[in-house]
Amino acid sequence: MRIPFIAGNWKMFKTVHEAVVFVKELKSVVKDVADVEIVVAPPFTAVHAVAEAARNSNIGVAAQDLYWEREGAFTGEVSAPMIKEAGAEYVIIGHSERRRLFGETDATVNRKIVAAIGANLASIVCVGESLEERERDETLAVLDRQIKDGLDRLTAEQVADLVIAYEPVWAIGTGRNATAAQAGEAHAHIRTRLRQWFGGDAADHCHVIYGGSVKPDNIRELIAEPDVDGALVGGASLDVRGFGDIVNKSRQAAV
Ligand code: PGA
Repeated sequence: MRIPFIAGNWKMFKTVHEAVVFVKELKSVVKDVADVEIVVAPPFTAVHAVAEAARNSNIGVAAQDLYWEREGAFTGEVSAPMIKEAGAEYVIIGHSERRRLFGETDATVNRKIVAAIGANLASIVCVGESLEERERDETLAVLDRQIKDGLDRLTAEQVADLVIAYEPVWAIGTGRNATAAQAGEAHAHIRTRLRQWFGGDAADHCHVIYGGSVKPDNIRELIAEPDVDGALVGGASLDVRGFGDIVNKSRQAAV
């Protein structure tokens, strides 16, 4: 059984101080929630402090990216073992902003997932089509390519432990979320491909979450779709009450 998975992607927001204040408040807002996996993804600078503040709570910590080498002359990069040691258990990989602004490809996504697995970090792997691709009716083909190449050579057990975030690029930060029907179609397609390519156990175990303008007032209808297992929340995760509200509503909608 997949319990809802709600992750807040803070992007390049929050200082260490702001991040710690947020987590301390979030802890009290969600203290009774045992049936939702709750994760926050601060910038690298705040990962360790957030992990310390969240210790022994029901809040997990994710980094927003990693580099696939363990160590070396790679100025500005951060490796999977470093992230793990800082206290994170998850890492976001292949966010569309990384793909669009920083040249990431399905091949680099694949290398990063392999590095995350090597350091025992769970990957939240982002996929999703641009507006032009949707208008050309290429959504499902784009998802096929991103999944096939991004998850290339992973075992069924490794895929079972992934979180895949379907994030249509046109819905990110635009206030225009996918409709429940659009999300439902994409998620069902992803699940079908996981079943075909990695088997039933992997497909049943893997969380497929939705991202793109998720808010307290649309989470219920999105998560009511049978293959939508949670959400990756950007803008609305920056406000502790709003994020707590999304967590609580996902919980009620899932029962
Ligand atoms: P948004 O971002 O909720 O602000 O649309 C989602 C994301 O980029 O993960």
